[in-house]
Amino acid sequence: MSETVKLIYRDKCIELPLIEGAEGELAIDIGKLRQKTGLITFDPGYANTGSCQSAITFMDGERGILRYRGYSIEELAEKSIFTETAYLLIHGALPTRRELNHFSVLLNDNSLIHEDMQAFFQNFPRASHPMGILASMVTALRSFYPAYSITNEEELNLIVARLMSKIRTMAAMSYKISKGHKVIYPRPDLTYCANFLNMMFDNPVKPYRIDDTLVEALNVFWVLHADHEQNCSTSTVRMVGSGKVNIYAAISAGISALWGPLHGGANQSVIEMLMDIQKNGGDVQKAVMRAKDKNDPFRLMGFGHRVYKTYDPRAKIMKRMCDKVLRKLKISDPLLDIALKLEEIALQDSYFIDHNLYPNVDFYSGIVLRAMGIPTNMFTVMFAIGRLPGWIAQWKESLDDPKWRLSRPRQIYIGNTVQKYIPIDEREVAGQS
Ligand code: ACO
Repeated sequence: MSETVKLIYRDKCIELPLIEGAEGELAIDIGKLRQKTGLITFDPGYANTGSCQSAITFMDGERGILRYRGYSIEELAEKSIFTETAYLLIHGALPTRRELNHFSVLLNDNSLIHEDMQAFFQNFPRASHPMGILASMVTALRSFYPAYSITNEEELNLIVARLMSKIRTMAAMSYKISKGHKVIYPRPDLTYCANFLNMMFDNPVKPYRIDDTLVEALNVFWVLHADHEQNCSTSTVRMVGSGKVNIYAAISAGISALWGPLHGGANQSVIEMLMDIQKNGGDVQKAVMRAKDKNDPFRLMGFGHRVYKTYDPRAKIMKRMCDKVLRKLKISDPLLDIALKLEEIALQDSYFIDHNLYPNVDFYSGIVLRAMGIPTNMFTVMFAIGRLPGWIAQWKESLDDPKWRLSRPRQIYIGNTVQKYIPIDEREVAGQS
């Protein structure tokens, strides 16, 4: 008989199964709790709730560990490229050379977007946020391309290539159109990352010179963002997907969830915060004081994480990449100096120590993206392109799960008890009895 835990309440006692994950983490299976007792659980923000069993990504927030399919993030960031990591996440194993070449061919073949879609881009107001455009355009893909029911590897490869390749083209296209510039098409001779940079920055009168260090930095940035288990946007993709919508609708919902400043939008907010500090004379101590003040809604953006209670392992890699890019390009970014000062002060401050608040991946990523020339309002789009393989892998895993069910949490109702309807002429107007 497998292990159980006892739940004792009032005069009752029931046993609930205990389940154990591959890395030894334990969970109480409450799947039959309501049926057996009439009770439900209460966990705002789901901080103590496992929503699924997953074989994709392992995180240990106390020890600062992140692994995709068993491979450490440090090793993947050093040795892998984004397309290979995407393949690993989605298919569950590193590709052979033949498989990776085939995947690259598919990415190239699917990199153009339907010419009719350009009209949509042209008609968004110039000031539109690129995340809103991206979410709308990903939903619109459903109208232009069928959403396959995935019954074999080849269909899966095709839908993955279509999404990954077109999302990159759409992101670069929306930037070019927002600038009023000519759209640059993808090139078959360039890698995934180099192609993106070229589509963003090439110009008929000023050809773009692709810099190897920037390509490497973009690869690392996207590898680091490729998955992060059941975060807000991934859980959204799973939840929306649980209604059996098409994949474009599920991914579009994930993009919308990522937009928020407490989630993917934090990379944009970090740079805006650093710029504000710079504008106000670089007073880092004042920002730290504000973040600690309970009467001030200000938070130190790029600090803290729901799961990591130590330094985010991705932030360490990003910080090193930041140094490398700025050194190689001989850029001196005053925002980096402010960020370093902020980190130094915060890491010694008892508030941040006691609350386990350390830099997260977004703290240094914006400085790397700035060095590439990516505009601040595109930062979260960069995150979305990186997170796409994770969303697809998690969406597919959820549909293949034999325990699949429609996601439908419960609630504890705290509103009025039964009310009697009063016809409108008989209602008292507040303040006029
Ligand atoms: N600055 C100041 N105080 C903070 C911060 C911060 N960045 N983050 C958390 N706290 C404090 C809260 O005020 C709270 O204090 P209290 O217990 O004394 O009231 C305590 O730490 C816990 O905060 P919660 O919001 O409950 O923690 P939670 O785990 O829900 O939040 C989150 C995590 C949203 C990431 C939070 O740390 C935050 O807002 N950080 C800034 C935004 C950010 O960088 N987001 C990116 C996260 S990574 C990602 O999504 C890619």
